[in-house]
Amino acid sequence: MNTLKKYIFLFLSFLIVFSCVKEPQKEVETTPVPPTNPTNPTNPTNPDTFNPTPYQLAIPTLFAQYILPPVIPSNNPTTVEGVALGRKLFFDPILSGNGTQSCASCHAPQFAFGESTTFSTGIDGIQGNRNAMPLFNMAWNWDNRFFWDGRANSIEAQAFGPVVNPIEMHNTWPNAVASLQSHAEYPNLFKAVFGTTNIDSVLVAKAIAQFERTLISGNSRFDQYLNGQISLTAQEIEGFNVFMAENRGDCFHCHGNAANPLWTDNLFHNNGLDATFSDLGLGAVTGNPADNGKFKTPSLRNLAYTAPYMHDGRFATLDEVINHYSEGLQNSPTVDPLLKYLNQGGVQLSVADKAALKSFLLSLSDDSFINNPDFQAP
Ligand code: HEC
Ligand code: HEC
Repeated sequence: MNTLKKYIFLFLSFLIVFSCVKEPQKEVETTPVPPTNPTNPTNPTNPDTFNPTPYQLAIPTLFAQYILPPVIPSNNPTTVEGVALGRKLFFDPILSGNGTQSCASCHAPQFAFGESTTFSTGIDGIQGNRNAMPLFNMAWNWDNRFFWDGRANSIEAQAFGPVVNPIEMHNTWPNAVASLQSHAEYPNLFKAVFGTTNIDSVLVAKAIAQFERTLISGNSRFDQYLNGQISLTAQEIEGFNVFMAENRGDCFHCHGNAANPLWTDNLFHNNGLDATFSDLGLGAVTGNPADNGKFKTPSLRNLAYTAPYMHDGRFATLDEVINHYSEGLQNSPTVDPLLKYLNQGGVQLSVADKAALKSFLLSLSDDSFINNPDFQAP
């Protein structure tokens, strides 16, 4: 009996080892399929094969050094063809109800994929009540909580929303899919990425998410300074000291430090904007009153391009933001205990400290990100 078990075990082990060894060879065998061609990505002589090329995300040095790898769902690996399709969809007004608005209408490259107006206006001219979020480094949102209130739980899931949101692109998915399906190029582009010309909303969301994961920003002047490539001004360095000091700016608890290149904790806090809330934020999603007035901590990268600031775009300038933390804090039941100087209205910065803090914050802006040719309209 024992011997029999042993043989079964050996046989199973052999199968496992065999299949593991066999796998890479199979991949080698399929490579003779001709490489895809961006203008005609399906192979016309063999329309049933598709073989998308893996896309390597360009991970900045400091990210590799300090933080966990990006989140890439196993059912939506990033591919060259997928990123190209997602980019085309992102910039294409075909997804909106009247063909006038694309994702990029509210998430434009020159504003770090955010918007320069306080609130977004959808295709019917109706305004929302939140400021469009800039989009970058989204693959490092390990908890997968998107939007100011965290209500979408993956990049893929997020992409379903805007197309049918009545105050955004105000379309229906059947209508958006029908437009793509009857388009001259899209069916073949989907085939090259997903192996089918049958387009559906899941595949649209997957392709857009692939493009969004490539929007990586890690080359600000402060990054270059940390990498030993440039020096900063004395004022910028002083501003970083203000940011880090608990008895001065005290910003780092929520917005990170030199060992967190995301410049956010990706968590939700009430940073003392209001005594009473017209927008409950996280609380409206969880139903827990202890979450009222909490919003996702935004990254401090690319602030030079993302004004106005906060979930409702209430502050037009960084000076206003800094004044808020210095002397404008409002008390409320859920205000974050990390705002330790609440009783005196804030951290009470000197004029010199405010100016230094602002110049440090601006050193986190990455002009190579907003000008990256791979991120512009195709
Ligand atoms: C009419 C303007 C508008 C359009 C069009 C639009 N968005 Fe947005 N987007 C916003 C606003 C406003 C928010 C913040 C909403 C909130 O938090 O409730 C947002 C948030 C997001 C976020 C969350 C980012 C984060 O870090 O949590 C992503 C991702 C996003 N949009 C992607 C897209 C994609 C993809 C499209 C196209 C399919 C799109 N958006 C179309 C205005 C727009
Ligand atoms: C308790 C956590 C916490 C602390 C401490 C904190 N912040 Fe914030 N910060 C937030 C949150 C949360 C938001 C978004 C709030 C909202 O929109 O409702 C925010 C928003 C911002 C914004 C707006 C960014 C944008 O894209 O809209 C800037 C700039 C900013 N903080 C800078 C600072 C500075 C500078 C300090 C230190 C003086 C600081 N923060 C301290 C949590 C914090």
